[in-house]
Order: sequence, then C-alpha cells, then structure tokens
Amino acid sequence: MDLGFGGEVAGFYQRYRRGYPAEVIDGLVQAFELTPDDVVLDLGCGTGQLALPLAERVRAVIGMDPEPDMLAEARRVAAGRTNLSWMVGSDADVPSLATLLGKNCLAAVTIGQALHWMDHDTLFHALHPLLRTGGGVAVVTNGTPLWLQDSDWSRALRRHLELWLDSEVTATCGTDDASRHRYAESLAAAGFTVSETRYQYSDVLDLDRVIGGVYSALPVNLLPPLEQRSYFAKQVGRALEGHAPYAEKIDVTLLIGTSHPR
Ligand SMILES: C[S@@+](CC[C@H](N)C(=O)[O-])C[C@H]1O[C@@H](n2cnc3c(N)ncnc32)[C@H](O)[C@@H]1O
Repeated sequence: MDLGFGGEVAGFYQRYRRGYPAEVIDGLVQAFELTPDDVVLDLGCGTGQLALPLAERVRAVIGMDPEPDMLAEARRVAAGRTNLSWMVGSDADVPSLATLLGKNCLAAVTIGQALHWMDHDTLFHALHPLLRTGGGVAVVTNGTPLWLQDSDWSRALRRHLELWLDSEVTATCGTDDASRHRYAESLAAAGFTVSETRYQYSDVLDLDRVIGGVYSALPVNLLPPLEQRSYFAKQVGRALEGHAPYAEKIDVTLLIGTSHPR
C-alpha cells in the first residue's frame, strides 16, 4: 500500500509536524481512566506524535502504521524506551491483532489524523471486543491543513500550491465538521458512548516551518525534485510576502467513544 508517506516525507513529518499539547494527553488519560497497567494501540501512528507521550502514562503502547518509513522515524525517536512496540499494519489488520491479543486487553485505541484513510465503520465494530470496560476509541485531529485556514497567508499558500500542482487542494484530512459528525455516528452505531472535547492553542510559524509542513503533507511523488527545492522555497516566500507573521489557531478535537460491557 503506497499512500505517499514513505521516503523523505516520513523525515519531514517527524521534523515538522507538531505533536499534541500536554492537556490533550491528559484528556485521553482522563477519558479512559488510563493507568500504568494499561496497554494502548495507536493506529496510524505515523512518527509517534500520540504514541510517544501516551507511553509515559501507560504500561505499553503499540504503534501501528502501514508505512515502514514512518515507523522507522518513530523507532529512531523512541530509541532506548522499552514500552513502545512498532508494527507494520493497517486498520485491515485489526481482526488479526484481536486474535493475537485476545478480548478486553486494550484500554484505548487512538487514531490521530489518520481515520480518513480507514474503513471506519468496519474498524469501530472490530475494535469493540478488544477494549476493556471504560476504555474506548479516540479520534483525534490536530488543526486544519496549512492551506485551508482562515487567514490571508493560508489563502496565499493555497493559491500558490494550486498553481504549482495544477490542481485544487481541498483535502481536509477528516478535520472538518461533516467528517467528525460521520465518525461520531459510526462510533455510536458500533455501540460506543460518544462525546467530544475541543482544545485550542496558537502558534506562529516561520517560512521554514510552512515549507516543511507542506513537504510533510505532499505525497512523496509530488515533492519538488531536490534541484528545485530552493526555487520552490523562494516562490513560496514570494507568494506569502506581506502576510507574516504566519499565525495559526489550532483546534484539537478528541472524539471519544467509550466502551461498555456487552
Ligand atoms: C497524517 S499521518 C498521522 C500521524 C500521527 N498519528 C499524527 O497524529 O500526527 C497519517 C498516518 O496514517 C497512516 N495510514 C494510512 N492509511 C492507514 C490505514 N489504512 N491504517 C492505519 N494507518 C494508516 C499513514 O501511513 C500515516 O502515517
């Protein structure tokens, strides 16, 4: 399965994608009453943005992702820590994982900015038997893509990327209200009790982080060739001229589905 997160994109993801604020991790701990005895699965873990901080709060975290290069970056960052296991796999592998682990063995399954790649209806049903009472599923978003924000610099970036790529860039990656509503209904249909918590924080990016953020989100085959990178950077700089500082308001949403005994 090639989703474009391999090769250099994995390195850009690790370097430029922000993790989650501590209060979000606290929110997950609280929602599922996580303890140092618990095991958590982080599905679509990428380079470990959720898995790494969660591992400080529970016995063990399994980070699962279909892209070996993302897992290699996560493993590198986690070097020396002994309660993180990295598995190549996707949502389609959850039934096999359930056979391996047995019933009620997970306290939580977290899915950070990755559910839009998955068959969520099938997945939520498959996850239910794996979860202990009071545990559950958390669908987490971490802000709106850089080119879809309500600011002049973001609109200028979007115009520039659309010219560069010669196509519209409209993907919300599951961060929009309609997607979250669909996920909430699907969780409820799979037997979870659903709630949503929202956190907001601000950040100011420099041009390097804007460009790194774009590279981390492009499929690897659409990255500008190496010899065009400095030209690309200059062009983005020119497109954003007059719009600094590149301020962001980041909305993190936790869609929580809590599990009950069946
Ligand atoms: C945008 S990254 C999110 C990484 C991290 N969880 C975060 O919160 O920043 C999406 C990740 O989902 C993974 N992914 C794509 N399809 C998947 C699937 N069907 N099952 C599990 N993970 C998948 C990708 O390889 C990628 O690492």
